[in-house]
Amino acid sequence: MEIQEHSTDSIITSAMDDRVSIKDSYGRSFNYLRVAVNERCNLRCVYCMPEEGIDFLSSEQLLTTDEMIKVIEILSSAGVNKIRFTGGEPLIRKDIVELVSRTSEISGINSIHMTTNGIFLEEFARPLFDAGLTGLNISLDTLDHQKFIDITRRPGLEKVLNGLQAALEIPYPSVKLNVVAMRDFNQDEIKDFAELTKDKSLIVRFIELMPFDAHQIWKTGKFLGTQKIRDELKKHYPDMKPVSGTATEHHLFHVPGYQGNIGIIPSFTRSLCSNCNRIRLTADGKIRNCLYSDSEYDLMSVLRNFGMDSDIFEIVNHAMLAKPLDGFEAQKNGDHHRESMTQIGG
Ligand code: 5AD
Ligand code: SF4
Repeated sequence: MEIQEHSTDSIITSAMDDRVSIKDSYGRSFNYLRVAVNERCNLRCVYCMPEEGIDFLSSEQLLTTDEMIKVIEILSSAGVNKIRFTGGEPLIRKDIVELVSRTSEISGINSIHMTTNGIFLEEFARPLFDAGLTGLNISLDTLDHQKFIDITRRPGLEKVLNGLQAALEIPYPSVKLNVVAMRDFNQDEIKDFAELTKDKSLIVRFIELMPFDAHQIWKTGKFLGTQKIRDELKKHYPDMKPVSGTATEHHLFHVPGYQGNIGIIPSFTRSLCSNCNRIRLTADGKIRNCLYSDSEYDLMSVLRNFGMDSDIFEIVNHAMLAKPLDGFEAQKNGDHHRESMTQIGG
């Protein structure tokens, strides 16, 4: 075992020395790893899961903390410097604070973010910050109590708002609110959400609905495209100005005099694929090279069969080299056997 570790360390060190980064055949390079830590969730958003949930993985099928840390270490040596923990709901995983803390000790990792539904955020905001978390994306689709229950099938708006407040007070370097925009559901709240950026250091991001759901909410005509969302914003804020954001926040705006920013994420329109810098690791240890692709590259079996670090690295490299040009190309080739975003990593 010891010999194995020594021999693989030297391979990874040489990768680091050459500043090898993971690239694809279109010249994109990948410095951002999204890790789904589970598939379970304490909410049941209608566009994500049916009321009864999905066929969840058993806990033995999930990557352990050690396995996740090992993958992050190997990829950080290959130039990955940003990690996002997602799910499912990361805050219902028992070891989540430990996971963040151990990740923050890995050299080369300079930002650690988390996507959460915010239900348990009020109690976790401080411990996660102390463990090294640098950013929070909180999912919230409505500011109305009844509509919150309608969309998530659970109560909890107050808890999410308290979680948001806790994150802003600490303050985290980055706090974003993810709002899935839906026609006839929260279209009339676009202004209310945008107004949150008036006196909060917050990015409110409207996200296009995507067709990943077992209940096929997708087919009910709720989709609201980037152009429509922008038109709606322009109506209320004729003098809002475009500003530059991260690779996937191409549509980022600022209302003069406001503290925060407003973003639109064309997750269905897929206009930003050429900027993609993401590697996805599913909760059951598979690499995915695109949200819309069904090709999976198995790390779990290598991890559980004493594979070498260099084997792990090669699988990721191979997966990313095979990345399709964009999400349309990826979708054409898929058979879509996963039922929910939680099985891909939201
Ligand atoms: N379309 C768009 N966004 C989705 N999410 C989950 N399912 C979908 C979907 N079908 C979002 C959640 C949250 C993140 C985890 O993924 O709202 O912001
Ligand atoms: Fe849970 Fe997020 Fe899915 Fe809603 S969208 S059920 S919060 S994982």
